[in-house]
Amino acid sequence: MEWANEIFSERALNLKRSEIRELLKLTSRPGIISFAGGLPHPDTVNKEVMLKLAEHVISEHKNTALQYGQTEGIPELVKQLIQLHKELDGIDVLPENMIVTSAAQQAIALTAKIFLDYEDEVLCARPTYLGFLQAVRSYRGKFVGVDLDPSDGIDVEHIERIFKAQGRGRIKYLYLVPDFQNPAGVTLSLEKRIRLIELAREYRFAIVEDSPYRQLRYTGENIPSMLALDTERNVVVTLYTFSKVFAPGLRLGWVTGPKQVIDKLTLVKQPADLCTSPFAQFLAAHYIEDGHLRNQLGFIADFYRPKQQAMIEAVERELGGIPGVSFTKPEGGMFLWIQLPEGIDSGELFQETLKRNVAFVVGSAFDPYAERNNCARLNFSFPTVEQIHEGMKILGECVKEMVTKKASA
Ligand SMILES: Cc1ncc(COP(=O)(O)O)c(C=O)c1O
Repeated sequence: MEWANEIFSERALNLKRSEIRELLKLTSRPGIISFAGGLPHPDTVNKEVMLKLAEHVISEHKNTALQYGQTEGIPELVKQLIQLHKELDGIDVLPENMIVTSAAQQAIALTAKIFLDYEDEVLCARPTYLGFLQAVRSYRGKFVGVDLDPSDGIDVEHIERIFKAQGRGRIKYLYLVPDFQNPAGVTLSLEKRIRLIELAREYRFAIVEDSPYRQLRYTGENIPSMLALDTERNVVVTLYTFSKVFAPGLRLGWVTGPKQVIDKLTLVKQPADLCTSPFAQFLAAHYIEDGHLRNQLGFIADFYRPKQQAMIEAVERELGGIPGVSFTKPEGGMFLWIQLPEGIDSGELFQETLKRNVAFVVGSAFDPYAERNNCARLNFSFPTVEQIHEGMKILGECVKEMVTKKASA
């Protein structure tokens, strides 16, 4: 179709293939120690339970589970989610505050769709989740990037300065991953959570709290979710997913937030996919009701904890003494972030480590302005503890070589 470009929308013409996704293909070749992935480990999916539930759902609910369902979600799952909010967050929510989605990524795209007109702005961290950047680009929104403090999250004073200087302007919402952020593994402090909610009320913008890793805490104490802190239920819209605590292949999640936002999400979800798979929803409803989720959360934390500890240990050992290098120490999630000295290009580092069969993701992929390239994301959910130690040794050697070469240039 040589004339395709004549008929594509401006929105489609504007989209480009992600270089990063292309690079990631290189990292799946055999023999590579990959810190590049972002997938939950397959051993964290309980296949026996899945089989049992699938059989039960097909025999007990075949007429509803294999049929279309309501856009908002099947009542059986919504009931369980309301109970889950009580247990995990200590909060009461109503069905009108919730919509089931085809996992968090759909919710990220739908929130961008309901809030953004052409060139409207979204506040986000630098660095931030790549799938969010892609969603906002596809709706032709603009980013207002704010630095992330490795110890307590996004720079709230900077956000305050922006609003003091210009009012809300074209900023519609703030997108955040408060717990064990992807890509940096950083957690937002309680003080900052509270202040951001105050600012959202004062300047009348929304906060989209993306929460895929909240249940994956390996050390330290939980901080209340932004949803729980929004006691008036008027600014925070929280995105949840079953991807990290059940199975990513189910493509199942939900959104909890103000009724007005949920109503609009329902209207934009309808033409997108009518409803999320009722079969997957029934599986999840039983997964929660029968106590499997609770058991699995403990199992998953125990499964990832040694990997998280090995990664922090190995990074401290291999990179700790190098001037200009710093790194985060995540208490959960799946990622750790490395800051390299100014002038060290993580793209070049990637080429070097790849020659020695080690891969990671270059930091510029997560920068809303695609500028910062002296940083890197390391995933620890997939490699074994041995691979983490071995891969970090190689990565450390490559960083040292580049730093030495730069100093002598
Ligand atoms: C921060 C963040 N949000 C959303 C997603 C998408 O997850 P889901 O499988 O729920 O679409 C991911 C996936 O890695 C993520 O890291």
